Amino acid sequence: MLKLDSVHTYYGHIHALKGVSLTVNEGEIVTLIGSNGAGKTTTLNTISGVLSARAGAVYLQDTTRKAGEQHGNGRDGDIRLDQLPAHEVARLGVSQSPEGRKIFARLSVQENLAMGAFARTDADGVRLDLERVFELFPRLKERLSQPGGTLSGGEQQMLAIGRALMSRPRILLLDEPSMGLAPILVQQIFQIIREINAQGITILLVEQNAQAALQVADRGYVLETGNIVLSGAAGDLLANPQVAEAYLGI
Ligand SMILES: Nc1ncnc2c1ncn2[C@@H]1O[C@H](COP(=O)(O)OP(=O)(O)OP(=O)(O)O)[C@@H](O)[C@H]1O
Ligand SMILES: [Mg+2]
Repeated sequence: MLKLDSVHTYYGHIHALKGVSLTVNEGEIVTLIGSNGAGKTTTLNTISGVLSARAGAVYLQDTTRKAGEQHGNGRDGDIRLDQLPAHEVARLGVSQSPEGRKIFARLSVQENLAMGAFARTDADGVRLDLERVFELFPRLKERLSQPGGTLSGGEQQMLAIGRALMSRPRILLLDEPSMGLAPILVQQIFQIIREINAQGITILLVEQNAQAALQVADRGYVLETGNIVLSGAAGDLLANPQVAEAYLGI
């Protein structure tokens, strides 16, 4: 569904991604783990079009193209996301729940959720998805009119994920969903990630909590200073002594 092919991203002359290649297949949970400053957020922001790659390509599988139609702007049947602005990437079904939550502090919970669905015209579908978000996060339903900025950290995290889901994404990019949460909430968030995936949404999960991320994921990639240094089935990475030493604190 998603493919990064040797992506290079810079901040001015700082070379943050040095040829990152990875794939996410439809229906998978794929996790990207790595230490502070490895380039995890940069990778997600490059996919979502918040940052632009200086070299390489980001492809999204094009499921809308009918047989016989002209090809997309990438390889056969793929769309080149790296040539599109962020709002176009979002419209194609790539939704990001950003690091540090980034909810609209002065808007209510209800308004924040509505912002996630702003590009949609299917009012019935939006209502249905709102109910699904409330099933995942009953707490949000109790706080509909409360300003986002006054929610607790955990509640803001729920709102950020809920808002991302309101666009009915094909693929959800989650940046550190467990950051700053109490242990009990961390377990809950990973359970919810499983549920979202079971509802048919493909997930690319960025986490510093490598243990929990690898337990929930199908496959994983390890990022070190802008390079993918290891990848494989999540179970194999969990059992890998290098990963255990560097990322699991074992
Ligand atoms: N706006 C920026 N300007 C300059 N350098 C930046 C900027 N944002 C990130 N960087 C640098 O790019 C590198 C990758 O940062 P990134 O935020 O992608 O790391 P990360 O893996 O998400 O880390 P963390 O786990 O701390 O969130 C770091 O060296 C960082 O200092
Ligand atoms: Mg980050």
